[in-house]
Amino acid sequence: MSVLEVKNLVKNYSTKSFTTNVLKDLSFTIEKGDFLVITGPSGSGKTTLLNCISGLEKITSGQILFEGEDLASISNDKMSELRKKHIGFVFQAYNLLPNLTLYENVALAGIIAGDENSKRINELLTHFNLIDYKNYFPNQVSGGMQQRCAIVRSLINDPEIIFADEPTGNLDSKSGEEVMKTFQFLHEQYGKTIVMVTHSLDHLKYANRHIKIIDGQIINDERLS
Ligand SMILES: Nc1ncnc2c1ncn2[C@@H]1O[C@H](COP(=O)(O)OP(=O)(O)OP(=O)(O)O)[C@@H](O)[C@H]1O
Ligand SMILES: [Mg+2]
Repeated sequence: MSVLEVKNLVKNYSTKSFTTNVLKDLSFTIEKGDFLVITGPSGSGKTTLLNCISGLEKITSGQILFEGEDLASISNDKMSELRKKHIGFVFQAYNLLPNLTLYENVALAGIIAGDENSKRINELLTHFNLIDYKNYFPNQVSGGMQQRCAIVRSLINDPEIIFADEPTGNLDSKSGEEVMKTFQFLHEQYGKTIVMVTHSLDHLKYANRHIKIIDGQIINDERLS
């Protein structure tokens, strides 16, 4: 079953004087359970693609179907519901709130979606080896731990799909590897669909699908296993 269908996606950025065509007619389907890695040179449109297919940015033309529903035709309320409960995001810069503890950062995501389930939060923190640090603030733990906390936060509402934009970009290679293993665990044990942008070809070993983008076009789309 496909989670996401991308049809003829075009994204332009326009100013008064000129238009930049960043994504040039991209079509592909993401199946449930895919671990898709997107690579490509800097400026090729990877972040733009991730933002468009996750509904963070409006597209210029084409269609994005999330579980069969056209993102362009759903209401703002439904879109925000979708973002809160069905889609998880992990960013390069972790984006944890500095004045909240690790526990509170995760809990906030639940509260926003209308449910602070402390049992589930503690279970997840335990699962991801963060429970001993739950009352620490982000600047008191390592970058790898902060990113694992951001991953737990993205999971709190049990999303079907998780989008990650260079989640290891700020980490040393050992912490990066731990974060990648966390994604692998989510994929294999939780059956999550993962769409990840990365610069590291080494990360392909965790994925089952690779899309390579150059200059806003897919130049390679292959299944790895
Ligand atoms: N808000 C914007 N307004 C205008 N142009 C933009 C905007 N966002 C991105 N671009 C342009 O779109 C192109 C693709 O940018 P994007 O950030 O998607 O690349 P990327 O592949 O993620 O690069 P990197 O690997 O450096 O993160 C770039 O030329 C960029 O300058
Ligand atoms: Mg980017």
